[in-house]
Amino acid sequence: MKIAVFPGDGIGTEVTREAVRVLEALPLPGLTLFEGDVGAAGYRRHGHPLPPETLAMAQSCDAILFGAVGDPSCDGLERHLRPEQAVLGLRAELGLFANLRPATTFAGLEGMSALKPEIASQIDMLIVRELNGDVYFGDKGMRTTADGRREGWDMMSYAEDEVRRIAHVGFRAAQGRKGRLTSVDKANVLETSQLWRDVMTETSTQYPDVTLDHLYVDNAAMQMVRAPGQFDVIVTGNLFGDILSDQASMCVGSIGLLASASMGERMTEYGTFGLYEPIHGSAPDIAGQGIANPMATILSAAMMLRHSFGREAEAARIERAVSHALKDGIYSSDLGGVLGTAAIGDAVLERL
Ligand code: NAI
Ligand code: MG
Repeated sequence: MKIAVFPGDGIGTEVTREAVRVLEALPLPGLTLFEGDVGAAGYRRHGHPLPPETLAMAQSCDAILFGAVGDPSCDGLERHLRPEQAVLGLRAELGLFANLRPATTFAGLEGMSALKPEIASQIDMLIVRELNGDVYFGDKGMRTTADGRREGWDMMSYAEDEVRRIAHVGFRAAQGRKGRLTSVDKANVLETSQLWRDVMTETSTQYPDVTLDHLYVDNAAMQMVRAPGQFDVIVTGNLFGDILSDQASMCVGSIGLLASASMGERMTEYGTFGLYEPIHGSAPDIAGQGIANPMATILSAAMMLRHSFGREAEAARIERAVSHALKDGIYSSDLGGVLGTAAIGDAVLERL
């Protein structure tokens, strides 16, 4: 089990260290960790945020555990040398087209949500966002028309195979959960969405154990705040997913608790290759103080064991340890507590 660990910058290095301790404490025969430089750390040591040796390491491993990139000292650099290019480069080079973002309210943390506690307590959903298509990758431009008006455009397009491959990710995820898949689109207005809806419906015949329904994105945004308990798995395109997944993350509370997976089609001898990272960034405002919450990264490592290594038992063990720690009031600064990064790691390890 070869895992590439890319801690990156700021709190990325601090939180990744704790996730590595958790992985090393589990009975995972053949576990081998390799460490590579990305982000500002990559730029400082190798002159590039995604050095060729780092990319080669990623390609030779079965999964990537990623911390965060971003460093204010790089603000003056040209765009292609900025730390953030590391994560974009890995997504592109490794064909990671499916972004999985679970949002679950942990027991005892209902009061941290932006929603009413009794509504927040119902939340247990997974957003599956398409990551390589849509309006972000279509033809785009800006021009001035003959009569002097500026005009900008971004072409939204999806090909049916792009929709089908993310549909399968959504249906399989729903099979492993409560068997409900909600496809979010804007089929009343957009042709891309009509294609999206048709392909979702066609694909559903292969998954008779999953209930598929469709929601327009505006209604989905409203429902997520009104009654988020109705959602199990949501599958949606790049643009709608970008917005809805940020909305979902704030429905459950702290940014220091939310994990993510980015996956593609590449298979290893253990499962699907993927990149696993907390949804937060490098948090320069608290970097170096040892107070960042490592739970999002620890939970990302659990997702890695589940999705890239088929190690459901160990994944669930990590998740139970984290949720017990939270029940016991093990809180870092983002949750209004005083415990530091290493102390949180210790508390999770004890419960593991
Ligand atoms: P951020 O997520 O780094 O921080 C936002 C706020 O949340 C800060 O006040 C921070 O202290 C707090 N926070 C974040 N994670 C925390 C944790 N684990 N425990 C406790 N508090 C936590 O977002 P921001 O400030 O917008 O970006 C900082 C840098 O990170 C930028 O350079 C940005 O480009 C980069 N970034 C990188 C990402 C990645 O590597 N995938 C994702 C998001 C941002
Ligand atoms: Mg976003």
